[in-house]
Amino acid sequence: MTNKNLIDLEAMSVKQIDKLVKKAKKIMQSPADYRHACDGKILATLFYEPSTRTQMSFQTAMLKLGGRTIGFDNPMNSSVAKGENLKDTIAVISGYSDIIAIRHPTEGTAMAASLYSEVPVINCGDGGHLHPTQTLTDIVTLSCEKGRLDHLKIGVCGDLLNGRTVHSLIKALSKYEGNSFVLISTPELSVPIYIIDILEKNHCRYEISNSLAEAVKDLDMLYMTRIQRERFGSEEDYQAQKDVFVLDKEKLSNAREDMIILHPLPRVNEITVEIDDDPRALYFKQAQYGMFGRMALILLLLQDEDFVLNERDTFVSEHHCKNARCITQSEDYLPRRSYEKLGMQMCDFCDKRMD
Ligand code: CP
Repeated sequence: MTNKNLIDLEAMSVKQIDKLVKKAKKIMQSPADYRHACDGKILATLFYEPSTRTQMSFQTAMLKLGGRTIGFDNPMNSSVAKGENLKDTIAVISGYSDIIAIRHPTEGTAMAASLYSEVPVINCGDGGHLHPTQTLTDIVTLSCEKGRLDHLKIGVCGDLLNGRTVHSLIKALSKYEGNSFVLISTPELSVPIYIIDILEKNHCRYEISNSLAEAVKDLDMLYMTRIQRERFGSEEDYQAQKDVFVLDKEKLSNAREDMIILHPLPRVNEITVEIDDDPRALYFKQAQYGMFGRMALILLLLQDEDFVLNERDTFVSEHHCKNARCITQSEDYLPRRSYEKLGMQMCDFCDKRMD
């Protein structure tokens, strides 16, 4: 096991995030200097769920650093289709590669994978839980485009319940001084309570809004998200939520000229295409910044001995995690790892309460 896994941005200090942003900017300025930085290294991309940006930007990042890539983007073309469990897949792949990037539809999978890997594991999205490298993408974009990561008024809009990118973003930006948040969603898709806990613990101001037209008026950054159709229990529930918040020219006319619009993508129709030509619309540029952020991350995890991520104290609980979407439900050999928060036992894989 290695302590260089990026599972949750909570494990990265502000100093480490700033170090990564600085490295990403250096790579952007002189990419030729890094052309052979990872010669001979192999990145494995294990994508159990569809992806365009995360998978290809990781692959491109490693290729631009001189390394090579292996992996799958459809587990049904791997021995997963024959019933191989996660533990065995990871034990084998970690013998073939120097670093693993994994996406999976089940919460806590990257954490589970890290228990059986000899090489660093990067969480590229685990169900509706977390997506830390998207947040690094967002942070590199913010730093380059706004020139700072603090004292920002940030609007997040859409599926704040299932949107893992939003959870990771709020967790990271709440560590910076003076940031405040406007949480724009329907009551059904509001942020999980543990995210509110984090905002309160970090003394961040936040407000809850159900009007995008109103909320957009005084923001430094608007972060739009897609309604996550694949996380809904029924099509009827999805239909009731889709298209509630759509950013169009009329609503954008209320916003400041220096507000920037980010979106992790893919977009469905929550931003009309007419907005794409507005200079404030930075979501395609954001995807490119993500590649540089991921180059920086690979370098720090593989080459910087001081870049050691924080690990929380865990213990084995007498309880089983009750979250139906947690990896412990399907991979039954996993230990009942738990950590303590405010007197409660939390699942170390999915961060839901166990007791
Ligand atoms: N933002 C993001 O995660 O995009 P992909 O699903 O295409 O990787």
